[in-house]
Order: sequence, then C-alpha cells, then structure tokens
Amino acid sequence: MAINLSLAPFQGITTRIYRNAYAKHFPGLDRVFAPFISGIHPEKVNPSKFADVLPASGNTIETIPQFVSIDSQEVLAIADFLADHGYGHVNWNMGCPFSRLANKMRGCGILPFPEKVRELLDEIMSKITIGLSIKTRLGYHHPDELSSILEILNDYPLKELIIHPRIGKQRYLGNVDVDTFRKYLAMSNIPVTYNGDIFHTTRYRELSNSNPGVSSWMAGRGALINPFLAAQIKGINLGDQEKRDRIGAFCNDLAEGKGSRINNEKKILGQLKAVWYYMSGVFSGGKQYFDAMKVCENSQSYLNFVHEMMQLPFASDHEIEHHWKNELKHI
Ligand SMILES: Cc1cc2nc3c(=O)[nH]c(=O)nc-3n(C[C@H](O)[C@H](O)[C@H](O)COP(=O)(O)O)c2cc1C
Repeated sequence: MAINLSLAPFQGITTRIYRNAYAKHFPGLDRVFAPFISGIHPEKVNPSKFADVLPASGNTIETIPQFVSIDSQEVLAIADFLADHGYGHVNWNMGCPFSRLANKMRGCGILPFPEKVRELLDEIMSKITIGLSIKTRLGYHHPDELSSILEILNDYPLKELIIHPRIGKQRYLGNVDVDTFRKYLAMSNIPVTYNGDIFHTTRYRELSNSNPGVSSWMAGRGALINPFLAAQIKGINLGDQEKRDRIGAFCNDLAEGKGSRINNEKKILGQLKAVWYYMSGVFSGGKQYFDAMKVCENSQSYLNFVHEMMQLPFASDHEIEHHWKNELKHI
C-alpha cells in the first residue's frame, strides 16, 4: 500500500516559505500541515491572519491550514473563508500543550471536556462546507481522556484524526504511549494518522508493522532534523553530495524568500537559526556548530557556519535519535 506521509506543523518554523522550499528540494512528502491560525473575529475576518496560507495557488504541495478555537462561530468563519479561497480541508488543533492555550480549554485543554466537544461539533458539522480533521493527543492530564472524546468524534463525518500519543502535561517529553494509541486506533471510525517520534526509518518500520490500521503518517521533529527522512521512508536514496546540494539550495531559497519579505537582517537570521536548531542534527557533530552559530550576528558569519557544517559527515540514525533525546531537554 502506498505510504501517505505529512509534515507536521511547527509554529515559527514551517512557514509557507519553508514548506514550499522543503517540498521543492526534499522528495517524499505527500502533504504539509500549516501552523495554527487563531484569534479570528467571526463578524469581521481579518485576511492578514491567513497570510501564511494565501493564496492557495502559492502552495507547491498539498497544504492543510490549521486553527485553534473553542468558538463554533469562529470555526465556521475560518472554514468559510478558507473554502472561498480554494481550500477543501481544514485541521482543528486539539493537541497544543502550551498552558497559555490549554488553560483556556484550547488545544489539548479541551480534552477533559467531552460535552464541550459535542456541543461544538453539533453546531459546526451541519454547516461546515469543507472537510474537517482533528489533531489531538491522548489527553491533557490523563491518557484515558481521549476515550470519551473519541466516542463523540465517531458520531461525526470527520475526515481524519491525527493522534500524537502523549498527554499534554508531557509536552514533548517522555515516551510515546503506542499501546494506548493502538487502543484508540481500534476504537476509531475515522481514518487515523499517527504522529510522534518518527525520527528514522527503523522507527517508522516498527510503528507501521505494529499498527497496520494506520491510514497515514505525520513526521515532525524527525523530518526537521533530517530533511531526507520522507525520502528514506519511501525508499528514495540520494547520494551524500546530492543531499548536500539539496540542503544548500533549500537554504538559499529560504534566505531569498525571507529576504524578499523581511527588511531586517537580525530577524531573518533568527528565523534561519530556528531552522538549523533542528537541521544541524542531520550532520554528525552538527549540534556543536549550531551552538556556535546561534550567537552569530551577521549574514556573513552565518553563511560561514553553514558552509563549515555542510562539510561534516551525515549523522547515523543512532546519532539522530541521541540528538533528538538531548534536544527534548531544551523544549
Ligand atoms: C516549536 C513547536 C511548534 C509547534 N507548532 C505546532 C502547531 O502550530 N500546530 C500543531 O498541531 N502542532 C505543533 N507542534 C507539534 C508538532 O506538530 C508535532 O505534533 C510534535 O512535534 C510531535 O511530533 P514529533 O514527535 O514527530 O516531533 C509544535 C511543536 C513544536 C516543538
């Protein structure tokens, strides 16, 4: 069966410039999810809030916009606006663990309140004109919470359910709970996408072999660290020189794209460094270079670091896993 592979959304990193450059230079992805939109006034939708996904014709890969909300009128206004601008699918973020949102019942903060989910879906599903999917976790405080939520979700024609098998309180720490994920996979009438800790092909294979019911896969940090992860999962193997050339071309497109929009060198550098925070991990010893790069203050020294980093050998799966575990401490 063909593998359907998506790139997870990352606020502040996977902007449209990033997503398009990624899809152009790194093969293997089928779809990308855009970081969430929030704060839309239903009576007066501000188009600038949708700047990252407009126009839809500017996407070079299938792109699914995402929102955070607990207001049915806001959800319908977002969906209508996106439908009017050519989108056929929008994703509802019920997984964001950050307390600023979760304390207000947003993101994974809604998971302890199944009746609120039912009330919202009752108001939304009879009127929404585009496909609605949900990205969620096992719970906010406890992995049992998704159980009552899923009983409700099963009553509605949702397009897809993306599950990250951690609870909100874990944020991105600790192990993913694949056994509990499997329980929910069996319960779900909605096609399920798995998201969590796919940081190399061996892990992907273990997960896909032990979860044959999964209909699609979403890679997050693993794909930001190793932009060839999707290709490797799909069996597309590129030589080292070609990989370096592709990373170089990707970086040029990012810098050019950002330079044409932002007239502030420091800001552009900050955004490029955020990309390298993860991508330095694709090189063996790249993390040390990143630590030096993150304090550089001008484009020339940034480019020197990139040039030096690109001479390093590629990291092994083991190193990438190690890198990933260490990075968790900083999130
Ligand atoms: C800095 C950061 C920003 C994120 N932004 C979003 C977001 O806007 N929407 C979303 O659904 N998830 C967001 N996530 C979660 C990721 O999409 C993904 O679900 C998470 O990293 C787990 O997948 P992974 O283990 O493959 O990385 C974010 C995560 C991080 C670390």
